[in-house]
Amino acid sequence: MSDLYAVFGNPIAHSKSPLIHAAFARSTGQDLIYEARLAPVDGFAAAVAEFVAAGGRGANVTVPFKEEAFRLCDELSPRAARAGAVNTLRFEKSRVFGDNTDGAGLVADIEGNLAFPLPGKRVLLLGAGGAARGVIEPLLAARPAALAIANRSADKAEALAALFADMAAVDAGDFAKMAGRSFDLVINATSASLSGNALPLPEGLFAPGALAYDMMYGKGETPFLRQAREQGAAQLADGLGMLVGQAAEAFAVWRGVRPATAPVLAGLRQALAG
Ligand code: ATR
Repeated sequence: MSDLYAVFGNPIAHSKSPLIHAAFARSTGQDLIYEARLAPVDGFAAAVAEFVAAGGRGANVTVPFKEEAFRLCDELSPRAARAGAVNTLRFEKSRVFGDNTDGAGLVADIEGNLAFPLPGKRVLLLGAGGAARGVIEPLLAARPAALAIANRSADKAEALAALFADMAAVDAGDFAKMAGRSFDLVINATSASLSGNALPLPEGLFAPGALAYDMMYGKGETPFLRQAREQGAAQLADGLGMLVGQAAEAFAVWRGVRPATAPVLAGLRQALAG
């Protein structure tokens, strides 16, 4: 019988994870089934328990359950403990192990697929919610010259910087605080585009050759990437590569093999454009 995996979220119907993991299973010769499962907003833990009882070996977790998944674990990877959120569960005998592969997926996409090495780069992270928090440790571990966090509410950016103060000095504040500074990489981890709002990005934020990275993705250019292009960003990337990267890292947590991401990413990109 094939090993059983799933992604839990709400909504979940449009998740690309089953497609991605089916492709990984084929390319690595692993025998597994991966399904999308809708969990009720107030019924995540019960849905997971049911899945484990049915033989589930592991799961991915997406919006809005990553913090709840974190609380459900008996053991956490250091990066998940730091992130305060879990996107990957592995069900062991009577224990639940939790990891967070979002940041590793982001860094792998930036340094691997986009060939943009992080050491020595000045990096600005926009946003201070769960999405931002989830990627800070792997970003810092990649040894950029500096990391700054800008957020609509400065206090949330400052609180986030304080959480990582033992790893590096992280400069934090509102968007206006970044006026007069420039960065080699600007990452959008806000959800502003969901409400159709542009971010109040100071002019001159993008250094020559800068990469603008949106953790969101969609058909065509995202609102943040349009804004970044208009403000002079030299390179643009959306979060589709991060999605595939976090999936590859989760696959490795479960199966001990890390699948190649480039062919899967190319296929998804083609499907999104079509
Ligand atoms: P997520 O888990 O996606 O990070 P979240 O925790 O609700 O979701 O965080 C959303 C982030 O997007 C926050 O940084 C939020 O800024 P505030 O902390 O000031 O609320 C940011 N955000 C959402 N809408 C925004 C907007 N219209 N302009 C600027 N930032 C916005």
